[in-house]
Amino acid sequence: MNRKTFIRGLGLGAIGAVSGVGLRGKSGAAGVAASMALPTYGAVSDANFWRAVRALHPLDPALHYMNTGGLGPASSPVLKVFFDTVNAHQFKSDTGHDTFHHYRDVVAEFFGADSSEICFTRNATEGNSIIAGGLALNEGDEVIFEDHAHPGGSGPWYNQRTRRGVISKLFTPDSESVEENLKRIRALITPRTKVIQISHVTAPTGIVLPAAEIAQLAHEHGLWFHIDGAQSAGMFPFDLHAIGCDSYATSGHKWLGAPHETGILFIRKERNAEVMPISAGSYTGPIPGTLPGDGTMGYVDDATRHEYATRSAASVAGVAAAVEFHQQIGRERIAQHGRELALHVHAELAKIPTVEVLTPTNPALRASITTFRTPKLGYSEIFGQLWKDYHFRCRPVSEQGLDAVRVSTHLFNTAEEVEALIAAVHDVVTKA
Ligand SMILES: Cc1ncc(COP(=O)(O)O)c(C=O)c1O
Repeated sequence: MNRKTFIRGLGLGAIGAVSGVGLRGKSGAAGVAASMALPTYGAVSDANFWRAVRALHPLDPALHYMNTGGLGPASSPVLKVFFDTVNAHQFKSDTGHDTFHHYRDVVAEFFGADSSEICFTRNATEGNSIIAGGLALNEGDEVIFEDHAHPGGSGPWYNQRTRRGVISKLFTPDSESVEENLKRIRALITPRTKVIQISHVTAPTGIVLPAAEIAQLAHEHGLWFHIDGAQSAGMFPFDLHAIGCDSYATSGHKWLGAPHETGILFIRKERNAEVMPISAGSYTGPIPGTLPGDGTMGYVDDATRHEYATRSAASVAGVAAAVEFHQQIGRERIAQHGRELALHVHAELAKIPTVEVLTPTNPALRASITTFRTPKLGYSEIFGQLWKDYHFRCRPVSEQGLDAVRVSTHLFNTAEEVEALIAAVHDVVTKA
């Protein structure tokens, strides 16, 4: 597809009014639908539909924000739920903890999980740390994960190396084939392997790793399979029971567009008891001293054993609202929009002499992230020029010496922005 057909395909230039008709859908616990003035999908051009979605994001109009993989902006309906909830609970000086079960139901349905399998955390790193710190592992036990893991995915395991002598075995994710990724993981399995962890979507170059196939491999070997899903929740739809992982951790504040400092941890109910809390207090379980007993800690038998003490009900309400926001727009529709923009970025950047796109071309292994580099300029130079001279907020990629720049395309990004990015990269690279 060339640039012109791409623009036509997205209906750019067509005049279509935003009708102000709210999307209709199942009204969930957080109730974002009331504040979502969006045209009915199909009643206006695609371009105008996505412009209306963008208008629901209170982003600086001078900023081209393409770093959802780092931090995703929340929409106005989500922020309204968040601030309304802050105010309501402050007004009564109430924690709002008794409202969590509503939000848990909404979030569980979104992820294809049971409510008892969902724990609200503060970020993906916390979820990954609960798994790494909570499983019964001994010195010399091994965990396999990829060498492109974000520090929020690798740090929890290196911490266990320092604390318990758990050894990390790393594979380089392959950007060509599902089978090659399975082969690389299989080659690292030894009698001491206890856990396989992957990033569902790798942070540096956006490789979508074959989670369901790796789950099967892990279970054939009796291993725990954990997914760091910081880059997948909200990027495209999936069902955790169908994938078959034992645990999955994600951030709320990236592709889901939930408030900052939010996260979700899923633990499969059949294996919940195997993850011991790394922090304990109110809500973890019966507290010694309040019940007769020998002074040992008790634990509730679901994933909420990892939620402890006073939390922000507004943040949790914000996560549920973000999930509802995605459902109202359509999860597959959002995924397709982000992917189409990304594929266009990929195709056009690859035409610029010296530019190499590192993200896979295989549609099974890619989604809404595109990472590129050129030998003419270092990552900080390209990133800096795009930011300073063109107001594009991308993400520099220094991991593994990749020396590249990452572009995230999501529901609030438009075809015009993507065209402007391609032109800006073209300028930056050809001037160098
Ligand atoms: C794969 C991956 N894991 C973990 C994280 C850390 O996320 P958080 O700040 O929510 O802990 C990131 C952030 O970019 C990431 O990409």
